[in-house]
Amino acid sequence: MTDTDSNGSARSTDSTATSPTRRSLIGWGGAGLALGAAAAGGAVAMTRVGNDVDPAGADAGGAVPFHGVHQAGISTPVQDRLHFAAFDVTTGDRAAFVQLLKDWTAAARRMTAGKAVGEGAYGGLAEAPPDDTGEALGLKPSRLTLTIGFGPSLFTKFDLAGQRPDALIDLPKFAGDALDANRSNGDLCVQACADDPQVAVHAIRNLARIGMGKVVIRWSQLGFGKTSSTTPGAQTPRNLMGFKDGTRNIAGTETDRLDKFVWVGEKDGPRWMTGGSYLVARRIRMHIETWDRTSLQEQEDVFGRDKGEGAPVGKAKERDEPFLKAMKPDAHVRLAHPHSNGGATILRRGYSFTDGTDGLGRLDAGLFFLAYQRDVREGFVRIQRNLATDALNEYIQHVGSAVFAVPPGVRDEDDWWGRTLFAKEA
Ligand code: HEM
Repeated sequence: MTDTDSNGSARSTDSTATSPTRRSLIGWGGAGLALGAAAAGGAVAMTRVGNDVDPAGADAGGAVPFHGVHQAGISTPVQDRLHFAAFDVTTGDRAAFVQLLKDWTAAARRMTAGKAVGEGAYGGLAEAPPDDTGEALGLKPSRLTLTIGFGPSLFTKFDLAGQRPDALIDLPKFAGDALDANRSNGDLCVQACADDPQVAVHAIRNLARIGMGKVVIRWSQLGFGKTSSTTPGAQTPRNLMGFKDGTRNIAGTETDRLDKFVWVGEKDGPRWMTGGSYLVARRIRMHIETWDRTSLQEQEDVFGRDKGEGAPVGKAKERDEPFLKAMKPDAHVRLAHPHSNGGATILRRGYSFTDGTDGLGRLDAGLFFLAYQRDVREGFVRIQRNLATDALNEYIQHVGSAVFAVPPGVRDEDDWWGRTLFAKEA
């Protein structure tokens, strides 16, 4: 069976994903499993059952194809939930790290198809921990996408300095930034998006588990309520300020604009990034208590759109073309619009968050902003600089920041995350 997705490639949706190799199986379980496996000889793979039965109600529509020219999770339709994790690499062994990327790919291939990792969560050798943690058994694929990125600090390791893309800059400090180092940066990231939060959390947890001894989680962020859309036909979601968010975004079907603003082209360099993109992640705290005491008129002036319909100032409908001069000079939409930024355009894919309270009686809530672009300097940096005078700044603060090079997609069963970067020496 074949299918075509917005990543632009036709492929099989039959996910007879490869199981992890015996070597990787041992690696995941640690020394204890290694001993158990050795004692049992070839029995491990044979006695473990796969928990491979298709999840209840799973259908092709519930699974987003993992293979493609581009990674899924960028131009594919935005799901409802997010679990985003940044990792730091703890191993200095390049071969071990490359093996991890291969093991992660095999696990991601299975999980995005709604299948358990490796040989499953139960039914195996009693002496060994199961390959899969089990909490997603019976759940639908939930359109899970897993998208990997490489942070600037990764290029200081494994002799990768010469491969670092020029476009993968260290972000400059912007006016108003109050960045928490514990919520910023990272050697790697994995963005897990799904319609079921348990499916997204399961995916990150199992990747972290597989990575034990080679990577550690540096920080992670849960998100709910997508604040952007790549499917303009669907109802535009609202952010925690109550406004429609994602109206003027790049749609997954706009292949020309995706090529122009999101995907790294062959001539952009470095070659290993062709078909990839760059991701900027910003944890933006909203002072929602202040916002909630602000008049409706002021709220609408801040964005330059009305709260009910989402129409730009002076227009009737959400999708009407904004007339920027009708907006206040410091309106968010006026300052963020491509016409105010020499045409700069990004693909937004953010989520709302609430992480308890800040200890001062206020919710720690806001927008986990995710933006994909072909070049960070001409995308996020350009727009964010122009937002220095944004009226919205009175109500928000950027408290976390990271940037990643997102490599091209995994083409087929033999391919793996990061191959184009690591293959030569791997
Ligand atoms: C908490 C922070 C933010 C909130 C609540 C917010 C909210 C909004 C809203 C309600 C819109 C109008 C609807 C739409 O077209 O999507 C919008 C538009 C937009 N925002 Fe933001 N935004 C935030 C931060 C940012 C940041 C940091 C950037 C980039 C640096 C950005 C870039 C844009 C762009 C490019 C548009 C579309 C402008 C247009 O083409 O008309 N936003 N935002």
